[in-house]
Amino acid sequence: MPHDPVTAAELAILHQRATEAAHNSYSPYSHFRVGAAILLYADDRQPGAIVAGTNVENASYRLTSCAEQSAIAAAVTLYGPAIRVRAVAVVNLNGAACMPCGACRQTILEFSTPETAIFYPSASGETVATTLAALLPAAFHLTPE
Ligand code: THU
Repeated sequence: MPHDPVTAAELAILHQRATEAAHNSYSPYSHFRVGAAILLYADDRQPGAIVAGTNVENASYRLTSCAEQSAIAAAVTLYGPAIRVRAVAVVNLNGAACMPCGACRQTILEFSTPETAIFYPSASGETVATTLAALLPAAFHLTPE
């Protein structure tokens, strides 16, 4: 799968879409409003689409969906099981650091490539650019019997 680095213009759109999603956050328990935007690889059926998600909390805390998880579910719903993620941008409206949690890393991995890029805010507010492979070394893969 050909991989072009994410451009500044693409990243700006990802941040915008993630921020819009964060405004819809349902987070009455943590008050931590998170948004994630996923850039899909283009394929012969569609250009590289962007799909966003937000965190959706629940009174039974462990049922909470993270923003990244919501975005992945939406992307599969919209574009089907063959999607591949070129990049994910995570933002929050709390001015805090926000790197994808461990569960979200594994969720993104399911649809990632070795080059899948991840962008998240550091504690100082700067955008950190990394890859999923760097965030989740020694990831779990189901080995068929
Ligand atoms: N959260 C996310 O949406 N993504 C992450 O990667 C980390 C945490 C959400 C879950 C919960 O609603 C709130 O942030 C506080 O943990």
